Amino acid sequence: MKIPIIDLVRQHKPLEQELESAFRKVLESGQFILGSEVEEFEKNAANFLKIKYAIGVGNGTDALTIALKALNIGAGDEVITTPFTFFATAETIAMIGAKPVFVDVEDTTLNIDVRKIEEKINSKTKAILPVHIFGQGAKMEEIIEIAKRHQLKVIEDTAQGFGSKRNGKYLGTFGDIGTFSFFPTKNLSCLGDGGLIVTQDDLLYEMGKKLRVHGSSKKYYHDFLGYNSRLDALQAAFLNVKLNYIEKWNERRRGIAKIFDAELKPYVKVPEVDAGNEHIYHQYTIRTDKRDSLSDFLHKKGIATQVHYPVPLHLQPALGYLGYKKGDFPVAERAAKEVLSLPIFPELMDQEVEYIVSSIREYFRG
Ligand SMILES: Cc1ncc(COP(=O)(O)O)c(C=O)c1O
Repeated sequence: MKIPIIDLVRQHKPLEQELESAFRKVLESGQFILGSEVEEFEKNAANFLKIKYAIGVGNGTDALTIALKALNIGAGDEVITTPFTFFATAETIAMIGAKPVFVDVEDTTLNIDVRKIEEKINSKTKAILPVHIFGQGAKMEEIIEIAKRHQLKVIEDTAQGFGSKRNGKYLGTFGDIGTFSFFPTKNLSCLGDGGLIVTQDDLLYEMGKKLRVHGSSKKYYHDFLGYNSRLDALQAAFLNVKLNYIEKWNERRRGIAKIFDAELKPYVKVPEVDAGNEHIYHQYTIRTDKRDSLSDFLHKKGIATQVHYPVPLHLQPALGYLGYKKGDFPVAERAAKEVLSLPIFPELMDQEVEYIVSSIREYFRG
């Protein structure tokens, strides 16, 4: 058996007709950047997430950049975030001239450890940027409370958690701005790059809309410097189709996770879910001190795995100028040595789930 980490061909096969007619509609409209398909997706996504505004942008990285800019964060400012995430989270903070300030993660969920945030707040701190890692909510109630106490903004990097909830509320809708990525491997994805910003705030909405088109709301009139980062009409049309399936897909992810939880618990550390979270398992990431040898074994069995993430951001050469060193964030550093993500996409068949389980059992039992 050969099991890939994700199989988008399988995901799109049953949607072929719908995706083809979405393509044809855009082809015949002659409108390829922004326009009615994008507006429709923004409306659909905002309705789904139960939030006032959504803004389609080029990708999840730009969504973060535009969110930071919309909040007027820049040179001389500090933004508190997690070192255990994809590089873009801290890269965007640095690229706009601000300083990423890391706080270690919880050993349980691998989300930012809220107990360690306040000690990093100073007069330069402007925002807290939690990531809902692997699709599980960070402790947003506490984060919002800390932010209120210190008059900080909150940006939620929800790239991995479209449709995931915490205490009944969709991730990305707790803070001032939520950002999403529709990169093909994401749980809601387009057939290329795409991203989204959501907010409840009228002013941030206006800023975000201008920032994605060169700081402009009227052609050739520019209020401030911005970006060229629009969601393509074609990608929005595909997303309008795929959004109808996201709940079903997230549910299937949960179903597979439940089987993995029960079957793998005797052998490895399975993901811990924080009370109140409805995890969508964008990744199903186990932990074991035999990570590399287990991964080799599974590879030989035809099962693809991935390490999210092998190097915490404070140890990335690109961020070396921040002056962090090994040992600064021991929880994230240990996790980086132990984590292994298993295949968990909605189209994974029951026999494949069973094969993954029996292969891991075989590895540990010999
Ligand atoms: C946590 C996180 N933040 C940001 C991004 C960036 O999104 P994109 O690849 O769409 O730019 C990703 C995914 O790639 C991500 O996983």
